[in-house]
Amino acid sequence: MRIYIDTASPEHIRAADRLGVVDGVTTNPSIVADTDRRYRDVVETTAEIVDGPVFAQVLAEDADEMVREGRGYQEWAERVIVKLPATRPGFEALRRLRADDVPAGTTVVFSVEQAVLAAKNDATFVAPYVGRIDDSGADGLATTRRIQSVFDAQGFETEVLAASIRNTTQATALYEAGIDAITMSPSVLDAHIDHPETAAGVEGFAKAWGDRDPPLSE
Ligand code: G3P
Repeated sequence: MRIYIDTASPEHIRAADRLGVVDGVTTNPSIVADTDRRYRDVVETTAEIVDGPVFAQVLAEDADEMVREGRGYQEWAERVIVKLPATRPGFEALRRLRADDVPAGTTVVFSVEQAVLAAKNDATFVAPYVGRIDDSGADGLATTRRIQSVFDAQGFETEVLAASIRNTTQATALYEAGIDAITMSPSVLDAHIDHPETAAGVEGFAKAWGDRDPPLSE
């Protein structure tokens, strides 16, 4: 499975990359707007740090402009994957970009039906918004599982990229369910590591060792 990091922060991307768990970086307009940097700068800087794909989302609302933006993003860096919303213009732009082999997929996905339309258009990925689906009163994990099982049953090659992950409970349920990929914020990644009992255990070992010389100095 692939793990992406959902951030525009070079420090967070580098820190995650050092852990060896970053297969790529996802961004969206909210994440980039928070940085006060230009979208182009975020994509170029990110592509210099990671070897994997950098996901960049269109801002346009009509299909022609989405296609233009998607093609423009391709000029910024290699390995850019264009994110298009699960709307009528988004699906039209997806069809046109994929027909020209531009890596592109569908985001802000809330249903199995939207995911199927994306896969029929040979989307590179679909991103069900697990946390926001839960917020809407439906079941984000169940929706994502169903999307994965439809894709497996139909032989669609589109990657299921679970997004809007709020905690490690959601993340581990997605791992168990065999979802292709997940993108998580740096804080959810941190929560994969930090455990009070691990900290207490490590502290206990240090205390037991006391002021003895370090092993390599013996
Ligand atoms: O990258 C998109 C997605 O992860 C959004 O998450 O927390 O804003 O629902 P959130």
